[in-house]
Amino acid sequence: MKTNLSAANPAEVETECLVTVVLDRGTKEKTEIFTATSDAPIIEAAQEIIANGEISAKLLEATLLHHPAKLKAKRLLLIGGGKAKNFTPSELRKLAGTAARFLKARGIRSFAFLTPSGNIKSEEAVSAIIEGAFVGNFDPDTYKSDRKDKKIDALTIVARGEQVALQKAMEQARIVAESQDFTRDLVNEPGNHMTPTMFAERARKMAEEVGLKCEVLDGAKIRELKMGAFWGVSQGSDEPPALIVLRYEPAGAPEKPALGLVGKAITFDSGGISIKPADGMEKMKYDMAGGAAMLGAMRGIALLKPKVKVVGIICASENMPSGKAQKPGDVQISMSGKSIEIINTDAEGRLVLADGLTYARQLGCTHLIDAATLTGAVVVALGSVNAGVFANDDKMYERFSKANENTGEKFWRLPLDDEYKENIHSNIADIVNSGGRWGGAVNAAMFLKEFAEDTPWLHLDIAGTAWMEEGKPWIAKGPSGIAVRSLIEFAREFS
Ligand code: BES
Ligand code: MN
Ligand code: ZN
Repeated sequence: MKTNLSAANPAEVETECLVTVVLDRGTKEKTEIFTATSDAPIIEAAQEIIANGEISAKLLEATLLHHPAKLKAKRLLLIGGGKAKNFTPSELRKLAGTAARFLKARGIRSFAFLTPSGNIKSEEAVSAIIEGAFVGNFDPDTYKSDRKDKKIDALTIVARGEQVALQKAMEQARIVAESQDFTRDLVNEPGNHMTPTMFAERARKMAEEVGLKCEVLDGAKIRELKMGAFWGVSQGSDEPPALIVLRYEPAGAPEKPALGLVGKAITFDSGGISIKPADGMEKMKYDMAGGAAMLGAMRGIALLKPKVKVVGIICASENMPSGKAQKPGDVQISMSGKSIEIINTDAEGRLVLADGLTYARQLGCTHLIDAATLTGAVVVALGSVNAGVFANDDKMYERFSKANENTGEKFWRLPLDDEYKENIHSNIADIVNSGGRWGGAVNAAMFLKEFAEDTPWLHLDIAGTAWMEEGKPWIAKGPSGIAVRSLIEFAREFS
């Protein structure tokens, strides 16, 4: 999608469709709808439909007017933003996505979005519109032979203000949004089109494009590094695993801190010998969403160039049953030296991540974040609205929650009290890999905590948020690209 910034008079903008936000500044008793612009011809064009009570300005309500008088635009799309006092960049991002999806469904290929007047700063508005529109423009229909290829080709943002600063905001938001869509593309791939080897190839290609160092360690190397937890998962599959290491080392960045982004990339999770039920197993192709999020974040970071060292470590593997597969009851020795009793081979994500975290520490990372579709339990706890976040360090958590304030991604902190440690006690090894059903998301996080040791660490459990079972007006159903925006923002603010 081409993007373009315009400081023109909105009425003068020649476009297939001009989009303007309508808000409600009324009270509980009485609505008072207005057009979020000071531009008289636009206000006039929307006046009648507002006066007639035909629109409510409720969030995402879209009303298309044709041949608006006094405007050069062919159409005017009024898009509801809800209550004016609650209108933030998060709402605006959704509106831009909704506009893109609404218009492309009607065969319209280009539009112009008018930044709304009000509390949101122009630069923030431009970022939100770009991010929303790119994310809305994405459809995961790669494998449809009759794919219509309906896409918005060009977006103009009409904004007043310092054009150089707005231009910069636009370019940066584009990087963030395209990184999120890059991740969504990976997550969308079925298991036979996204083996660990193919995943590593995509990582290599991306790294080359954006100037990241990329190293891929194979199964032999994983064994040589004594990553017994990781290899235990991979040993049952005919597809070789891949440990992908991406390095972002900008000139002039201090040696420390160094941020480590560790991702779970199980390209298909059958459960292994503790095999999953057939019903819904096909969804386990998205069990690489954590790794894909880290890859997308590394892409964004490489292009936005914050002054901080970042290492991306992605543990890619299949989890399959076979004559070579690990069995319940097996004991694996992790790279850290800790022994793990395998109670359930379906609790494989924490195993690959355990060695990923240890490796990240060994490579000198002073701060760690992992992302993983780790537990069904987090889906039970938080559904598809919030992702779970766990932290062994309050400061790290504060930084993260501040960074994602404006990204529109939702995370909810869950506990890591010492009492939960009992749940992963083993009679024959240091710990077990499954703490059972109760508090399942916490048990998994407690397991990972053992491997983060004393390094400040965050764990993002995105099992419920990485794949959307239902589409929304602003985003297609399927891979969401959750965590990419927050991770990029975290790295930018970390520097
Ligand atoms: N990949 C799954 C978790 C998952 C569930 C992701 C639903 C996305 C949607 C993970 O490897 C898994 O199987 N976890 C088990 C752990 C249990 C055996 C302790 C689970 O949550 O049931
Ligand atoms: Mn599993
Ligand atoms: Zn899994």
